[in-house]
Parts: sequence; C-alpha cells; structure tokens
Amino acid sequence: MATEPIPLARSIALRVLIVDDEVSVRRVMAAVLAQLGLPSETAASGEEALRILKTHQIDAVISDLQMPGMSGMELLTKVRQNYPQMVFLMVTGVDDIRVGVQAMRQGADDYLVKPLQVDANIVLASLTRASHVKRLEQEVDNYRHHLEEIVAQQTQQLREALRRIERSYDHTLEVLGAAIDLRDSPTAGHSRRVFLYSIEIAKAMGGLENQMRNIAMGAWLHDIGKLAIPDGILLKPGRLTEKEREIMQRHAQIGYDLVKGIPFLADAAEIIFAHHERCDGSGYPKGLKTQEIPAGARIFAVADTFDAMTSDRPYRCALPFQVSREVIERGAGKQYDSQVARVFLSIPGETWEGIRRETAAIQAFALVTASDIQALSKLAKSGD
Ligand SMILES: [Fe+2]
Repeated sequence: MATEPIPLARSIALRVLIVDDEVSVRRVMAAVLAQLGLPSETAASGEEALRILKTHQIDAVISDLQMPGMSGMELLTKVRQNYPQMVFLMVTGVDDIRVGVQAMRQGADDYLVKPLQVDANIVLASLTRASHVKRLEQEVDNYRHHLEEIVAQQTQQLREALRRIERSYDHTLEVLGAAIDLRDSPTAGHSRRVFLYSIEIAKAMGGLENQMRNIAMGAWLHDIGKLAIPDGILLKPGRLTEKEREIMQRHAQIGYDLVKGIPFLADAAEIIFAHHERCDGSGYPKGLKTQEIPAGARIFAVADTFDAMTSDRPYRCALPFQVSREVIERGAGKQYDSQVARVFLSIPGETWEGIRRETAAIQAFALVTASDIQALSKLAKSGD
C-alpha cells in the first residue's frame, strides 16, 4: 500500500484497464483516473479484460479480487503469462488484506483496499511506483539481453577463430604428408591410400570414434621420419645392405621424435613410432606384441601391407587384390591383429577399388591442390 504522500504529477502516462463486476466501482475508479489525467477502459469480468488487452494498448490493470467467473488471481496469472511488463494492481476487501499480500507474491505490483480509496494521491502513488519498478525491470532485462548477445557474439567469433586455427593445422599436416609421398616417389600416393584404407577399417571396426582423427593423422604422417633418410638409401633401386636397412628403420623413431612434441599429435606420434611393429613381435623398432601396439598402428599394419602388395614396385608389378587379401588372411593372429584382419576381409573389394581409383585421379595432378586438402580434411573429420 502506498502511504507516503506523493505529489500529483503527470510524470506517468498510462492507459489503465479497470476490471470489476460492480459498475459503480468501475465508474468511481474511472473518475479518479480521469482526475489524474489518465485515460481508462473498463471490463466487467476477467474474460472481458483479456479480450480488451488483446485489442487495446493498455499499460496497467486495476482488478477486483472477487469476481464471478474468472477471479482476480486467475486474471493476474494470465496477465503475467502474456504481458509480463504490465502494471497490475489488485483491489481487495478490508478483510482480504492477507490475500492482497498473497497477490503481490504472485506477481501483482500493489493492492488497493475496498471500499475503494478514492484518494487520487494513493492511486497515483501506487501506479507511479509500480510503473517505475516495471521500467527498472525492463531496463535490467534489456541489459541482460544485451550482455547475452555480446557473449553469444564473442563465443561465435572464438569458435570461428578456433576453426581457422584447426584448418591451418590440417593444411600444414596435409602438405607434410604429401611432401613425404613426393620424396619417396616409388611409393607415390602411398600415404594418401593408407590414410584412406586405415579410416575405412577403423570405421568398420566401430568403437574407435574418439581415436579416428589420431588414426587418420598417424597413417597420413607415418613415414614422416623418411625425410631424414639419405636419398642414397631411400631411393636405392636394389636391395639394402644390413647397415642401410638399419638406417632406414630409424625412420620410425625419427618420425616419432619429430611429432611427439606437438600436443594435438601426441597420440598420432605413438602410431608413427609403432607403424612397423607386428603382432607376433617380428616388427621394429621395439618388437612389440599385439596389445603393446596401439590400435591405430595395428590397423595401419594391415592397410600398409595391403597397399604395398597392390602397388607397383620397381622390382615387381602390383599383385591382384585377391592375392593380397589371402596374404592378410594367412597372417591374421600372427603379423596382423586377428580382429583387424577379420574386419578388413569383411569389407567388399569394390570399396578398396573405389579408394584406389579416387587416389589415382588425384595423383594425376602430381601436386596437392587446395580442394584435395579440403577433401582429406573432411574425411579425417568425418570420424571425429
Ligand atoms: Fe614406414
């Protein structure tokens, strides 16, 4: 209730809706408002009030509490739902002051007591205070909304920046992988093919979704250590001597050392290190066995063997797909992880032929193109 004297001032301009089932009350209140210079509409029920609110510009509602049909409290609930910024004063009987307080708890801005206080000062004070509170609430709401917009905008900018950084990383890595293939010309396209073969096997195995990117990057960069192998050994057409083979085999460790310091490639580095390990312990550099070898490296081993056998070499032509599949089948549980080999054998030959055709078309350009890089990037991400 407003008690402090507030001078009659025309500081507020409100259109008021008076809701009361008694016509005399409506008339008295309309007269009081007119005295204050405030225009008003009247409604004889809550239902009529809601209809008027839909069609008229109303800023404040002064509603009786006890009405036949929709009560003042029900009207208050509906007004708050649909017009949260509306000023709402509840009119209660002398005996209903407790209910008036309850109405304020449920969203009314103030209450007036019946028989209606016809003191215009009191009505004006009540309307003025409620109107100021509503304006403050609106300003706080606008401010919060503005802050949310700024936060959303900056979050979006941050995401965009992260995406750009990620793309830059990918492009750098992809160019590196392509450089390995270009240097090691007898195996042209090898990195690209084992990258795609490994992804295909990993997808078919399932449960490796979180590792897909590491597997892809490990396969793509597996021979990065070869950049440090002298041409005389790397490109030697004949058989390597024992000493040369030992130098050649260092590429697994060199590749690991090159990549391990890059945090987002730490897991891919493990695959690079172990990409020549074999499940029966016959591989290098450590002679690790099945469970000691990262899953990505076990997948790679099958992809690598498959590609090596189905590609031309200086000393022989490419072997048919079927022959290479039989070799992997025989090696399952020995050099190759039996589960990986089983999944590999379950993938139809057309899938491998499709990848082979696709990569052969890319090789025709000899160099990596921008669209090529983007296509590889999408493939790597599809498993994320
Ligand atoms: Fe290698």
